[in-house]
Amino acid sequence: MIDLKNVVKIYQTGGEELIALKNISLHIDKGEFTSIMGPSGSGKSTMMNILGLLDRFDEGTYLLNGQDVTHLTDKESAKVRNKEIGFVFQSFNLMPRMTILENVELPMVYAGVPRKERRERAIAALEQVGLKDRVNHRPNAISGGQKQRVAIARAIVNQPVVLMADEPTGNLDSKTTLEIMKIFQDLNDAGTTVVMVTHEPDVAQYTKRIVSFKDGEILGDEPVKNRKKL
Ligand SMILES: Nc1ncnc2c1ncn2[C@@H]1O[C@H](COP(=O)(O)OP(=O)(O)OP(=O)(O)O)[C@@H](O)[C@H]1O
Ligand SMILES: [Mg+2]
Repeated sequence: MIDLKNVVKIYQTGGEELIALKNISLHIDKGEFTSIMGPSGSGKSTMMNILGLLDRFDEGTYLLNGQDVTHLTDKESAKVRNKEIGFVFQSFNLMPRMTILENVELPMVYAGVPRKERRERAIAALEQVGLKDRVNHRPNAISGGQKQRVAIARAIVNQPVVLMADEPTGNLDSKTTLEIMKIFQDLNDAGTTVVMVTHEPDVAQYTKRIVSFKDGEILGDEPVKNRKKL
């Protein structure tokens, strides 16, 4: 599913080089539910952005779902991303001027899905995350937990092979956090591979595997014993 080999990422800032990922190799199989943990600045978001084809890297290779995506152009990356990857951000990143329904339809607009099918699939995805009402409201009229549900619906609406999330519960209270983790667990049970960054050890206990980062390197990689199920 995901195969990163010897990936190096260097940021150039004002003449200085910062090696954000030193030599990362990571394999994630279909059906896994993986947490990425580690201190602030250890390279978690850098790696997620690379996994999500949102950023490039300097050395190494990346195989996604059997396809070598190491050297894609921006246009090719966008296409693969739209088809294979769902991405959820801490800050939701919804379009404020669009309704909830339109937000969820957006990836299908890019994918060229006809209008009627778009609407049906958007409603089905919203139902999957437990949002049936308020779909004609704009994002500022709903709670943080509801916003993240919308973002997840948008991320799964093209039926991606992998769902990636960078601190999806970072802005949510503990009750809402568990609601979101239940959605991820249900999606994972239904076959979606999930990769998620979290700062909270408690939250990682709902996943199946914990990969720990430190200073741009993988320090640990352990299955979660006695995983918590919601
Ligand atoms: N666009 C950028 N330009 C330059 N340096 C960057 C850039 N993005 C990240 N960095 C640096 O790369 C390193 C890794 O950052 P990254 O955002 O991946 O960390 P993180 O583990 O996600 O941290 P946090 O837990 O705070 O989100 C840090 O030293 C950071 O300052
Ligand atoms: Mg980060």
